[in-house]
Amino acid sequence: EKGGYDHFMLKEIHEQPSVIKDTYRGRLHADDGILRLGGLENHIEKFLNADRIIIVACGTSWHAGLVAEYFIEDFTRIPVEVEYASEFRYRNPIISEKDVIIAISQSGETADTLAAIKLAKQKGAFVYGVCNVVGSSISRETDSGTYTHAGPEIGVASTKAFTTQITVLTMIALRLAKAKGTISHSDFVRYLHELELIPTHVEKALQTEDEIKEIASVFMNVRNFLYLGRGYNFPVALEGALKLKEISYIHAEGYPAAEMKHGPIALIDESMPVVVIAIKSDHYEKVVSNIQEIKARKGKILAVVSEGDKTVREMADYVMVVPHTPEALSPLVTTIPLQLLSYHIAVMLGRNVDQPRNLAKSVTVE
Ligand code: M6R
Repeated sequence: EKGGYDHFMLKEIHEQPSVIKDTYRGRLHADDGILRLGGLENHIEKFLNADRIIIVACGTSWHAGLVAEYFIEDFTRIPVEVEYASEFRYRNPIISEKDVIIAISQSGETADTLAAIKLAKQKGAFVYGVCNVVGSSISRETDSGTYTHAGPEIGVASTKAFTTQITVLTMIALRLAKAKGTISHSDFVRYLHELELIPTHVEKALQTEDEIKEIASVFMNVRNFLYLGRGYNFPVALEGALKLKEISYIHAEGYPAAEMKHGPIALIDESMPVVVIAIKSDHYEKVVSNIQEIKARKGKILAVVSEGDKTVREMADYVMVVPHTPEALSPLVTTIPLQLLSYHIAVMLGRNVDQPRNLAKSVTVE
């Protein structure tokens, strides 16, 4: 059942190239410039006329929501807010019929997310679901939606659900951008082609596992980690830190790289590993200067870099290499080494990777 892997989590990490493909298969045909999401086609006007899109989710699904916020606003110019379902439902939120809610949930059973959409529906909002489990409570409660095709996710730490959620949300954003005319036809087709390349890129990123194991063995005994990223990769930093915390029980914080100097920089000394997502992007130079700030305080740099990178490679103590893809799609590849790093640290520490203490696969209590 674990397909020859030691843990479900590792199996699920390695399934990502195929489940990302399963998620866009039949929906996206780059050569013909076609992108069609069954659940979305009849509701496109709802999205385009919305005052704003509010995304509600918890945990890793909330991180996927943050990536979607960047993508949807960037490509469609529709305002997006991302909320923890648990906060949203209890703060008497302002919602009207002009709002569109997107609920993201792997299990489709998370109590707070379910309650959040019930509330939004009462207030007349249109509710769209991005779920993995077919027929789950959230998928039934929503007005429409798109399933991720990740297959069963058994490991408590979410991996393939996250990347397939981002795949779906990216397709939603591109489809809306096309309908709204905020993306040129050539860019649209270029992004479809780039999406089709993601499984190959993920496969390549997975091949660095041995090097990541090395890094894991060096840092398995530290007490704290910092994860930094900017732009589309800020949510990836949060997700990397969550993954490490939940399965290795090592304390980790994710931060937008530029926020470091507003506080967390005080933590940095020679024993502090700082994972920095430093791929080639519009933020590259800025991230390089963030790395310099950390090095000046003797922090250890574990950098996620693009193939062919030289500058960061020279500065970093360790690198994790990922193939190049447009920044907007990069979370789909930069996430991979961070999943592997947490997994191998947790295994080396003898943790119960698939069922970490105190955690349940779906949180059906409030
Ligand atoms: O099933 P859901 O996507 O609604 O679950 C949300 C969170 O409980 C979940 O992502 C949790 O944070 C994971 N254990 C993270 O790996």
